[in-house]
Amino acid sequence: MILLKLLGMPDDVSADGYMIDHMMEFCLWFMVILFVGWTLFFLFILWKFRRGRNKQAQYHGFRAKWTTHAELAVILVEAVLLLGFAVPIWKKTVKDFHDDNAMQVHVVAYQFGWAFHYPGADGKFGRNDPKLVSSTNPLGIDWTDPSSKDDVVALNTMRVPLNQKVALTLTSKDVIHNFAAPSLRVARDAIPGSSNEIWFTGIKEGDYDVICGQLCGAGHGLMKGTVSVIPAADFSEWILKNPSIPAQFKEQKVAAATAH
Ligand code: CUA
Repeated sequence: MILLKLLGMPDDVSADGYMIDHMMEFCLWFMVILFVGWTLFFLFILWKFRRGRNKQAQYHGFRAKWTTHAELAVILVEAVLLLGFAVPIWKKTVKDFHDDNAMQVHVVAYQFGWAFHYPGADGKFGRNDPKLVSSTNPLGIDWTDPSSKDDVVALNTMRVPLNQKVALTLTSKDVIHNFAAPSLRVARDAIPGSSNEIWFTGIKEGDYDVICGQLCGAGHGLMKGTVSVIPAADFSEWILKNPSIPAQFKEQKVAAATAH
């Protein structure tokens, strides 16, 4: 992966990113070859049709069989790129999302940050309603819903367990953003009113950048987040001990439980 390194691509820390890397490296080498090849050809044409040797304009220009062969070769390589690399990767991305073993996280982008909603121990997301959105409840979660009692909402840092497949469902509260985590080789738009899906498996502990990949307003450049890949035990401890339920709802629930 010489060219990717040269262009500053961070190391891949995901289980499936190597496929993306192979494709990009292949594309880059292909472009290098085309660039060098066409440049040499261009210089050759400048030399061949120079004024000193061509007193009169030539209307037919350069003629040779090999240029046709070169064009056909380029088309063949592009077909391999599309059918051999791009389509299989896309198929895998779409098909593998629906995996019962994947940990589900809802990602909500906003101007200018990221909110991550975890279903908690019960594996069920609490109901949410745009009418409940407030400064203290950025995702409008209905805290009276039993499924929401163990839900966790985290801003800007998404903790995920090591070696765990994580399935993200992306949406946005305002304009189009793009959740991009280059180290994990994932990027997908977060679009208001619709949900997009993406998944990854972090195989190396560490903190990795999340950037917004769509120009979304004045704070676009500051819309940075973090994916923190941590040991599974640390993750379980964090998620079980830190439900985001506000105190008043906690008390309400205890009261309701003792009343029956
Ligand atoms: Cu959000 Cu750019």
